[in-house]
Amino acid sequence: MKKIIKNNVSFVGYIDWELQKFHGDDYNITSGSSQNSYLIEEEKTALIDTVWSPHSNEFVFNLKNIIDLKKIDYIIINHGEADHSGALYTLMQEIPETPIYCTEAAIKSLTGQYGEHGWRFNTVKTGDELDIGNNKKLIFIEMKMLHWPDSMATYLTQDNILFSMDAFGQHLATQELFNNRVNQELLYKEAIKYFANILNPFAPLITKKLTELKSLNLPIDIIAPSHGAIWLKDPLQIVDAYEKWSNSYQEDQITIAYESMWGATAKLAQMIADEINTQNPNTKIKLFNISKSDKTEVMAEVFKSRAIAVGAPTCLNSIPSSVSGWLAYLKSLKFKGKKAAAFGCYGWSGGSVKILQKELQEAGFKVADTGVAPLWSPKDEDISNIKNMVSELLN
Ligand code: FEO
Repeated sequence: MKKIIKNNVSFVGYIDWELQKFHGDDYNITSGSSQNSYLIEEEKTALIDTVWSPHSNEFVFNLKNIIDLKKIDYIIINHGEADHSGALYTLMQEIPETPIYCTEAAIKSLTGQYGEHGWRFNTVKTGDELDIGNNKKLIFIEMKMLHWPDSMATYLTQDNILFSMDAFGQHLATQELFNNRVNQELLYKEAIKYFANILNPFAPLITKKLTELKSLNLPIDIIAPSHGAIWLKDPLQIVDAYEKWSNSYQEDQITIAYESMWGATAKLAQMIADEINTQNPNTKIKLFNISKSDKTEVMAEVFKSRAIAVGAPTCLNSIPSSVSGWLAYLKSLKFKGKKAAAFGCYGWSGGSVKILQKELQEAGFKVADTGVAPLWSPKDEDISNIKNMVSELLN
């Protein structure tokens, strides 16, 4: 499939309507995804990125229907992760002499994954250019740690297209290709979910990179990421969104995430939600049972929240493993500037709230002094504790 993006630039990637998991099982996909590869056909022909290896044969077959592979003068690899480089080995078996342009770190990631094959690597750095004829050139911009050390973006002059790699992407399958042709609510939901779950750990670097990108003064008409819709209409809207999201983003929302053995901690979670609503009716509240919810979606809600409350009963003198795993994931996302509180019922011996408080502190949250730990089930005497805890979260 070749879909024209602008003039002689086409989409030649793979739209994956069936994908359900990403990064192993870590990221739940709910709207499909795509691995975007682009073909630029000027006096010289350049291919930007490939697709994931399960689609290698289809990718190369499709490419052969579009162009004589020998006419590809340059292969640009913006990032070596398997979802974009997976078809490279199959492609290089067809055109082993074609030069590959990538960062020095990408040579490591590519040879590390696919072995040494004598491929003709050309290392590029920020500001390096590649002439592709017709007065057009490619300019490379290193995007180190966005989100791998090998990441870079490629800019096409005259057409003013920024091939931004993972940055500005979304796990969203769309035949319509462009941002203005997809459901806007879904587009932003997937974009923010992608940011929260993949890019947020590198938020301080994103802020710096966006400043650097702006200082290059490159006119940008299109931002073509490696996943999901291409930003054609008002492309800088997603750059503006990234500026907000990378700076300790929060909305007036509190997310409550809990696990419950026999329903008591679930009841407590609901009481906390009611109390938030009483103290501040304007604050949006999201409530999730951890083991019954999609953690990728929950983390996107945590990302949007100004505070969270995490609940777990005491179980085996500890907390349930579903919550331990959830907290480990939470920790890895490095959210900043948010408050947190802990709650959980117990029967014989307690301790879950203290464990939760420690974990939340280590995850970078400002933890409320008040925790709520009712014996057996929440009762009237727990109300004042709940009030205090909620007050600490809201103020
Ligand atoms: Fe879409 Fe970092 O790969």
